[in-house]
Amino acid sequence: MLSIKDLRVSFQQSTGALTEVVHGISLDLDRGETLGIVGESGSGKSVLSLATMGLLPRTAQASGQILFEGQDLLKAPEKQMCGLRGRKIGMIFQEPMSALNPAMTVGAQIAEGLRLHNGLSKSDARAETLRLLEMVQIPNAAQRIDSYPHEMSGGQRQRVGIAIAIALKPDLLIADEPTTALDVTVQAEILDILDDLVAELGISLILISHDLGVIARIADRTLVMYRGDEMEHGDTEQVLRHPRHDYTRKLLAAMPRRALKSLDQTGGEKPHA
Ligand SMILES: Nc1ncnc2c1ncn2[C@@H]1O[C@H](COP(=O)(O)OP(=O)(O)OP(=O)(O)O)[C@@H](O)[C@H]1O
Ligand SMILES: [Mg+2]
Repeated sequence: MLSIKDLRVSFQQSTGALTEVVHGISLDLDRGETLGIVGESGSGKSVLSLATMGLLPRTAQASGQILFEGQDLLKAPEKQMCGLRGRKIGMIFQEPMSALNPAMTVGAQIAEGLRLHNGLSKSDARAETLRLLEMVQIPNAAQRIDSYPHEMSGGQRQRVGIAIAIALKPDLLIADEPTTALDVTVQAEILDILDDLVAELGISLILISHDLGVIARIADRTLVMYRGDEMEHGDTEQVLRHPRHDYTRKLLAAMPRRALKSLDQTGGEKPHA
C-alpha cells in the first residue's frame, strides 16, 4: 500500500546551497503491517514522515517516489494531499497537547472531523465519538467526552490524539514519537492500544522512535536510520537479535535492560503474536 523508492530530501540553506538530509531511503509497507523507524536525533525520521504526509516546508526539495495506493504523493497537488491527510493517512503527534485545541472539548474535536468529512449528524457524531473514546480505552468515556484537554493527563490526551487519528478510518497511520513524552507504564499501554487497533482495523502503522525498546514491542519490521541513510532494514526480531551494523549494536547496547528483558520474555515476538 505504501512504497517509498529512493527518497532524497534536501533543504535549501540561507546561502542558497542545498544540504541533503535523507539519502535515498526505500521501504515497502503492506496493509496491516507495522514498520518501526528508529535512529538517533537528526537521522531524518521526521523528515521522512513529513514527506509522506506532504508536509515538508517550502525550503525542502524531495526526489524519488512515495507511492501510496499506486499514486506518487511527491507529485500530488496540495489540494489532493489535503483530502488524503486525515482520511487516508492519519497522524499521531509526539505532544498531543500541541495537536489539540485547548478551547474545545475533546469530544467536540473528535466529532468535528466526523461531521465535516463523513457528514454525520450531531447525535451520530457524538455516538461515534464515544465509541472511539472507548476503543482507545479512556476510562469513563461518557463523562470524559465533555472534558477539555487541560483536564486530562498526558496519557489520556494521547489516547484522544489516537482517537482523532483513527476517526476517519485511514489506511495508514504515522506516529512520530507518540510516547516519548509519557512515563514508561503509560507508554506501554499506548503501544498496546496502537498494536490492537492496527490488528482490529487492519491499518498499517509507521511507528517512529529513537527508542529501540518501543520499536521492539510492536513493529513487524524495523528500519534503522543514521544521518539520513538506511543502516539496516528487516524483520524486527532479525534486526535485534542479529544486528549487522555497528550502529544498531550501539543502539541495542544503549537500550535499558528492562526493554531487552521484555524482548526475551516474548522470545522476540510481538507480545500479541
Ligand atoms: N526545516 C528544516 N530546515 C533545514 N533543515 C532541517 C529542517 N528540518 C529538519 N532539518 C534537518 O534534517 C535532518 C533530519 O531531521 P529530522 O527532524 O528528520 O530528524 P529526526 O530523526 O526526526 O530527529 P529527532 O529524533 O530529534 O526527532 C537534521 O539534520 C535537521 O537539522
Ligand atoms: Mg523527529
